[in-house]
Amino acid sequence: MQRILIDTDPGVDDALAILYAMLSPELQIEAITTVCGNVPVTQATQNLLTILDVLDLDEFPAIAQGEAEPLVKPLITAAHVHGDDGLGNVSQLRNTDGSPLYPPANTSVLFTSAVDLILEMVTRYPDELALVALGPLTNVAKAIREDAAKMQRLQKIVVMGGVFEEYGNVTTTAEFNIFVDPHAAYEVFDFGVPIHIAPLDATHQVVLTGERLHAEIGKREDNISNFLKDATQACMEFYRQHVGFWGFHIHDALPIGMLTHPEHFESVDAYVQIETEGTLTNGMTIADLRRERRHPNPNARVCIKVAAEAFLDHFFKRLY
Ligand code: RIB
Ligand code: CA
Repeated sequence: MQRILIDTDPGVDDALAILYAMLSPELQIEAITTVCGNVPVTQATQNLLTILDVLDLDEFPAIAQGEAEPLVKPLITAAHVHGDDGLGNVSQLRNTDGSPLYPPANTSVLFTSAVDLILEMVTRYPDELALVALGPLTNVAKAIREDAAKMQRLQKIVVMGGVFEEYGNVTTTAEFNIFVDPHAAYEVFDFGVPIHIAPLDATHQVVLTGERLHAEIGKREDNISNFLKDATQACMEFYRQHVGFWGFHIHDALPIGMLTHPEHFESVDAYVQIETEGTLTNGMTIADLRRERRHPNPNARVCIKVAAEAFLDHFFKRLY
């Protein structure tokens, strides 16, 4: 059983990753923290509770709301990809009686600080806890600043982020999670805890087409199926208009798969550096991935290849 803490900025692909993780018996989700990114952190927290409500859980993992702003840069969000509410605008859907189909959740039950919850969990499970970072690394960097000695006891950090041998998805050179807070990423990659990273080079190998989603859902009308139908339309429409296909990349589901089925993934050791000063290159992740140029002191394992069909088959096997 792998104990994990998920740090997330839901986000449609975050939502699918959280469902996948919650339905994976290989994982024990000890806590979930929210961070600013795709949407402001208050909305990310609302969205997390909406996602967990889909599962009709008897009890939630410990939850805490995190940082509202990156360490240095002003926040940029991705509502144009994920919808104004970050979940495909499900918050606007109504029942026939006019009541919200996805009612706002009560956020008063939460821990007040993601940093405190991260530090509490790594202290409770020294050397056993994997921190799965699905958004900007602001909370992780703040926890390191707060208590580096405690954070050294993290087993590993599994990051969705960065891009090495492809173009970025925010600028030509940068992927969103790193671009939003490159200063946080710099501090996390410089910290020394083992890092496993799923960059766009890997996540772009897995395409969830609208056809595949439709085929998997079929005639089902359960909570998960209805949520998948409701939450993914806006994102797939963005992809149809701007990426050229009806579907989307489930970026954030890959770090979950890397933990439950590592055999579906191939990674290489590398020394990853983050550009924090550049204008054209701000948020760029730099590493030489050539085998003959391996760095003597790598700080990360970079995923370069995914068995995409096996991964997708497993993803839907877990959801259904
Ligand atoms: O670049 C993709 C990443 O940015 C994903 O985590 C997505 O949710 C957005 O946060
Ligand atoms: Ca995300």
